[in-house]
Amino acid sequence: MAATAVAHPNIALVKYWGKAPEGDNVPAVGSLSITLGGLTTRTRVRFDPGLAGDRFRLDGVEDGAAARRVSRCLDRVRDRLGVRIHAEVSSRNDFPTAAGLASSASGFAALVTAAEAALGGGLDPAERADLARRCSGSAARSIFGGFVELRPTPGGPRPTETRQILAPDEWPLEVVIAVTASGPKATGSTEGMRLTERTSPYHAEWVRLSPAHLDEARRAVLGRDFEALAAIAEHSCLAMHAVMLSARPGLIYWNGATVACLHRVRELRGRGVPVFFTVDAGPQVKAVCLPEAVPAVREALGAVPGVEALLHSGLGGGAEVVE
Ligand code: DP6
Repeated sequence: MAATAVAHPNIALVKYWGKAPEGDNVPAVGSLSITLGGLTTRTRVRFDPGLAGDRFRLDGVEDGAAARRVSRCLDRVRDRLGVRIHAEVSSRNDFPTAAGLASSASGFAALVTAAEAALGGGLDPAERADLARRCSGSAARSIFGGFVELRPTPGGPRPTETRQILAPDEWPLEVVIAVTASGPKATGSTEGMRLTERTSPYHAEWVRLSPAHLDEARRAVLGRDFEALAAIAEHSCLAMHAVMLSARPGLIYWNGATVACLHRVRELRGRGVPVFFTVDAGPQVKAVCLPEAVPAVREALGAVPGVEALLHSGLGGGAEVVE
């Protein structure tokens, strides 16, 4: 009753921000992401009838707050498979946790995949994605590799549908991540979403426009149209941050170096370098580019004052059981 799974973080090009009113962590908007192959979460789950409760260690350290969320996620897998046994979970990230690098996405994708395998569940990836979505919305997308779309499907067989729209090698984009602050973020995504839903005057408009954003991005991806993808991805990112900023109190996830990086990416693209930016609920800037642009992008972002480190990744595959 033990299994180990790996999963990779993903970066949304059309952003998920906001939850549907029916609850159960169904997203209010569809999203489209790329799964990164170069950053990995590895999680081992061992179910043991002798345990009085679940146990969780992240990078070797017991973490109480995270443990409760892990336990709630395990409950969903246990309920789905009709099992009542507690588990010991240990997880490792080979990249900084909780700094806007989507560690919850790879974390919950790996957790659901390992737990389900340990219990011999036999669920298909779409079902695993819907379970992972209930633990953390973005985690559904890390079940698949390459370019992945997650949509709410009211009235469908499941409340959401997650699917791969292009495999990683069908359009091998690269991502350079400029780390501008390495501590944990101020307001987590779940809390930040609740605040903006309640208080932002722009939230309803963001939700209304989202199907059009998703259609535009899907067309750009299927047509391998980099310029078109750059335009819609930067728009979705900036529109999400506009909603965050318009909450009360406003959520400001950026620092000075974040903004300087955005300008640097725009300058590069103005000079014909194929690159665009996206930023999640944190200060790191993700520069998405064609492979030939990587050296120029690294050099430009590495020279921005306040950039502490650069990470670099190509696209990768979905969550999988390795042991
Ligand atoms: C800004 O998936 O972390 O990264 O469902 O509450 O766990 P919960 O939220 P989460 O939100 C991700 C928000 C984002 C955009 C995105 O990844 O689409």
